[in-house]
Amino acid sequence: MTNSENKSSSAFPIPTAHVMSQLPTQFFATLVQNVNREIANGHDVINLGQGNPDTPTPPHIVQSLQQSAENPLYHKYSPFRGHSFLKEAVAQRYREDYHVELDPETEVAILFGGKTGLVQLPQVLLNPGDVCLVPDPGYPDYWSGVALAQARMSFMPLLQSNSFLPDYEAISAEDRHKAKLMFLNYPNNPTSATAPLSFYEDTVEFALKNQIVVASDFAYGAIGFDGHRPVSFLQAPGAKEVGIEFYTLSKTYNMAGWRVGFALGNAEIISKINLLQDHIYVSLFGGIQAAAAEALTGPQDCVTSLVARYESRRNTFFEALSTIGWQAPKPKGSFFGWLPVPEGYTSAAFADILLREAKVAVAPGIGFGSHGEGYIRIGLLSGEERLREAAERIGTLNLFK
Ligand SMILES: Cc1ncc(COP(=O)(O)O)c(C=O)c1O
Repeated sequence: MTNSENKSSSAFPIPTAHVMSQLPTQFFATLVQNVNREIANGHDVINLGQGNPDTPTPPHIVQSLQQSAENPLYHKYSPFRGHSFLKEAVAQRYREDYHVELDPETEVAILFGGKTGLVQLPQVLLNPGDVCLVPDPGYPDYWSGVALAQARMSFMPLLQSNSFLPDYEAISAEDRHKAKLMFLNYPNNPTSATAPLSFYEDTVEFALKNQIVVASDFAYGAIGFDGHRPVSFLQAPGAKEVGIEFYTLSKTYNMAGWRVGFALGNAEIISKINLLQDHIYVSLFGGIQAAAAEALTGPQDCVTSLVARYESRRNTFFEALSTIGWQAPKPKGSFFGWLPVPEGYTSAAFADILLREAKVAVAPGIGFGSHGEGYIRIGLLSGEERLREAAERIGTLNLFK
């Protein structure tokens, strides 16, 4: 799955860097096109296919940006590596929520959203031919960074039989030896699984033994259900020695459009990310940094109510699914559901039927990797009425007997 090399026959051929042709194609672009076609044809599509938070940023954070936009200090270039107050703010949140101590100046890098860091990390750590361990199914941005580093991916299957955690014993001796980096992501996109502290303790041991850097993508770190706060990788003893965690404000505070993320942990890795960023960016707009600090240090009841909203949607939707005979375990975290497709369908064919015949858009599991086959992902990013209606529409197709 790579973009084909573009050889122009025009009189002025535009060159293409070889590495560009290695970038994976965007599987979900086709899904978006299909959804848009149904909408253009006048259909009322319930779109459960994407991962974009549907409710607005809490007002006190927006007001903070409004006020700080007027501050002339922020109209100048920001410090290259961002304002200290923002690094201190995220360190404070980690101390309060996870009892993890971080040095704001050496163990925190400010990112233009988590995605940027996920793509940068392989480029600062890997050389062509190095191996990166990647979850399958997994978030496709991991593939992009590995491709840009011209490294090789070795996929770690996430199987229901192992609670969607990777089985380190199953990794071949060769890949274990060659691997220099590993991505993990809990609460997980797309499977919605969460990871216990014991898993991260095993991970630190595995990483130390095999000299593999761990990158924990904690994008859904705030979203855990039934009273369980998801565990941070950095809570495992020794985690900072072997890796970093990516954190983002996109999901915790409904700030996906603001582009604020962090890399946290191992100081040597953080300094490499900062060095690369010194050559590409001049940190985020100061006003956004001030509002981001307000999000992290201000009242956190907005997070509690957001999680309660997703939990209530989850309960409504999964009850409605069980009424139509679609049995699936309820998610423990993230805002996704990972549902098995009925026998006889591929995930893509099943998603296609739901869109064409029920006007409900879902993401086929195959788009997240070969072990995503047999599942579809839904996002709990519509109101309860719409979620119930989606299940009812699917029920009328009589596919679950
Ligand atoms: C698993 C995962 N990681 C990282 C991100 C990136 O988030 P952002 O770039 O908005 O910080 C997302 C966004 O959907 C995600 O699902």
